[in-house]
Amino acid sequence: MDTTWQTRLLHPDAQIPGGYRSLATPVHRGSTTLFPSAAAVTDKWDQERFGYTYGLYGTPTTLELAARIAALEGGGRTILTPGGQSAISLIDFALLRSGDHILVPHSVYGPNRWLTTALLARFGVSATFYDPEIGAEIASLMRENTRLVWTESPGSVTMEVQDVPAIAAAAHARGALVVLDNTWSAGVLFDAFAHGVDVTMQALTKYVGGHSDLLLGSVTVRDDALYQRLGAARQVIGCAASPDDCSLALRGLQTLAVRLAAIGASALAIAGWLAQRPEVDLVLHPALPACPGHELWKRDFTGSSGVFSIVFRPGPSWEQVCAFVDALELFEVGYSWAGTTSLAVAYTIAPAGGRPAYDHRLVRFSIGLESTEDLIADLGRALPALSS
Ligand SMILES: Cc1ncc(COP(=O)(O)O)c(C=O)c1O
Repeated sequence: MDTTWQTRLLHPDAQIPGGYRSLATPVHRGSTTLFPSAAAVTDKWDQERFGYTYGLYGTPTTLELAARIAALEGGGRTILTPGGQSAISLIDFALLRSGDHILVPHSVYGPNRWLTTALLARFGVSATFYDPEIGAEIASLMRENTRLVWTESPGSVTMEVQDVPAIAAAAHARGALVVLDNTWSAGVLFDAFAHGVDVTMQALTKYVGGHSDLLLGSVTVRDDALYQRLGAARQVIGCAASPDDCSLALRGLQTLAVRLAAIGASALAIAGWLAQRPEVDLVLHPALPACPGHELWKRDFTGSSGVFSIVFRPGPSWEQVCAFVDALELFEVGYSWAGTTSLAVAYTIAPAGGRPAYDHRLVRFSIGLESTEDLIADLGRALPALSS
């Protein structure tokens, strides 16, 4: 039909040549997804089964990333979320109901703990925080209504390695599901499904993104019934991943193997150097033989990434620990690890809730891609700030 130029701005008749091929996945943005006819309109969320219906449930960009994460983790299907924490909350809201009980390691990522204590409790879900090194003994904490056991290995900040197969066996014997936050392993250094996990999540924000410039999360399952529950919950909670962020994550995947290898080797060398320093009491890096949990790490993991912590010997005050962090010139101070720039953050770990009594003596590092030699020199230069 004949239209004005104003209308043609929205209904163009411009022609472009077909047949373009590129190595990059195109960024398909879109809230509205077009249907071929009035009768074809549907709000079904499972795009693989029913075709594309709405941007919230996926565009070719987000679904490609989801399929690639599923393949990488050896899972069946992956749902993407706007960040790692929303992946955590999606799992809880999809799989729990009022009256349920869950088990959560006391070493779990802080916002996962707060979700449990501050929000799930309001919806009638109770929780027991357990010693992450409990292993098969977790059977003694299982209740009639225990539906889900969270694991995170190594644990956030304090780096405890969990006996995931033993925990999974005990949980499955009582009909509970096992969920793993597999972010430290980038979903590849620990084969979650082979070790009995039912649901994995990752903050793709970290190693998959790899450049500190995006927020994304993933939830991966092998079981289709679980996928249906997670997908249905995602539809009503409404957490969609941005196609722009997914395209950056797809780019991140191309270099994940080399970044992880370089960062892992550098972190291990730096951790080994720190272990020799008189100021340092403990190096919490599971690939070091002296680190608690090393044997489990050796049994279950195929490598180590770049995040580890140190605990100073008693003596320095909190202010002196902060002075050490501030004296570092190459390590920046900030959250969200796994990028190319090294980071350091000081933590106070109170013994409350079963956590180790590291007090204010812990510093967590995320090693980036600077030269190992320069990072060690930076640490050596900053350590005297502990006693000044
Ligand atoms: C172990 C772990 N899980 C989950 C998250 C949450 O990821 P995001 O920051 O993408 O919400 C983080 C973030 O620091 C984390 O360290």
